[in-house]
Amino acid sequence: MRPPNLLAYCRAGFERECAQELTALALDMGVSGFVKARPDSGFALFQAHQEEMGIELGKHVEFRRLVFPRQVVRVGELLQGLPTGDRAGPIVAAARALGTRFAELTLEMPDTNDGKALSSLARTLKPHLEKGLARAGVAFDPKAEERLHVFFVGTAAAYVGTSVVANSATWPMGIVRLRMPSSAPSRSTLKLAEALIEFIPQREHATRLAPGMTAADLGASPGGWTWQLVQRGLSVIAVDNGEIDRKLLDSGQVKHRRDDGFHFRPSDPFDWMVCDMVESPSRIARLAARWIAERWCRETIFNLKLPMKKRYEEVERCRALIDEALGGGGYFLRMKQLYHDREEVTAHLARR
Ligand SMILES: C[S@@+](CC[C@H](N)C(=O)[O-])C[C@H]1O[C@@H](n2cnc3c(N)ncnc32)[C@H](O)[C@@H]1O
Repeated sequence: MRPPNLLAYCRAGFERECAQELTALALDMGVSGFVKARPDSGFALFQAHQEEMGIELGKHVEFRRLVFPRQVVRVGELLQGLPTGDRAGPIVAAARALGTRFAELTLEMPDTNDGKALSSLARTLKPHLEKGLARAGVAFDPKAEERLHVFFVGTAAAYVGTSVVANSATWPMGIVRLRMPSSAPSRSTLKLAEALIEFIPQREHATRLAPGMTAADLGASPGGWTWQLVQRGLSVIAVDNGEIDRKLLDSGQVKHRRDDGFHFRPSDPFDWMVCDMVESPSRIARLAARWIAERWCRETIFNLKLPMKKRYEEVERCRALIDEALGGGGYFLRMKQLYHDREEVTAHLARR
């Protein structure tokens, strides 16, 4: 059985943007429905007016195209009133109705303070669920196409659903957990680290992000993004009027240019341009498109600092600006609110 609703996990405070994105996607496919998205809950639920349409929509969602959802799971109705003595029972029954073979079982909860309080419950319940699922004839095989999710929204309430492994986030709760490297000069370094994991498949690093390549880092101070590139063996021009970490400069791979990132022009093309300047998103989007259009770089990763209001609209405006600047084709663009992004999204733009 295919569950008809779409459950999207997101950063707390971005439920509205998730809802707008899911609604727009559904409309695009001619599916009408409504979204339940309580502010600061860390998730949004899309329910189609007609179940069959919801099932069709679930089949056609392309996870990689979504910006705000960290994960999308196809779920049925919320299981409520789970009995304290046997929470596993109703969850196992709901899971069994979805299939008998899954790649893995993930127990998740919203990325909020209330959600965190549910993690010990999930840990305690996991062995009971595994036993119950085995007894019900549900098997786990890493080669299976779908993953089984149990998403707790309270001690007695959970959604049970599935995601297609190849069309979803790899990480539990859609969160890439990274350790802060002790020698990196700023926490922002984690944004670029995550962006590189998200946007550039590891198997392509040898050809797209390899030692000896060159990069410009616009708005580089104090050097967290530059640090990520230097770690991968790239030579970097760090553009910023602010200071760059002394150890980075001593590495011999970094040149500091005290310049305005909007005025800086490369004398030779770079492999990469990365940009974390604090500026209006549309200005940054135009700049990134120009770097690609002028062939000043082959690929770019840039961060868009979103306004307080109309954040979804702003992202769509930037997408349209890039499309217009690049003549509507010949490029590849992905935008994503990363786990390490706050009121921001990060984008990757490259020539096809
Ligand atoms: C968020 S910080 C960058 C942090 C950096 N990515 C890191 O990982 O350490 C933004 C930087 O953009 C710089 N900036 C803002 N506007 C700029 C401009 N027009 N040209 C160059 N740098 C700019 C600021 O000086 C500031 O250092």
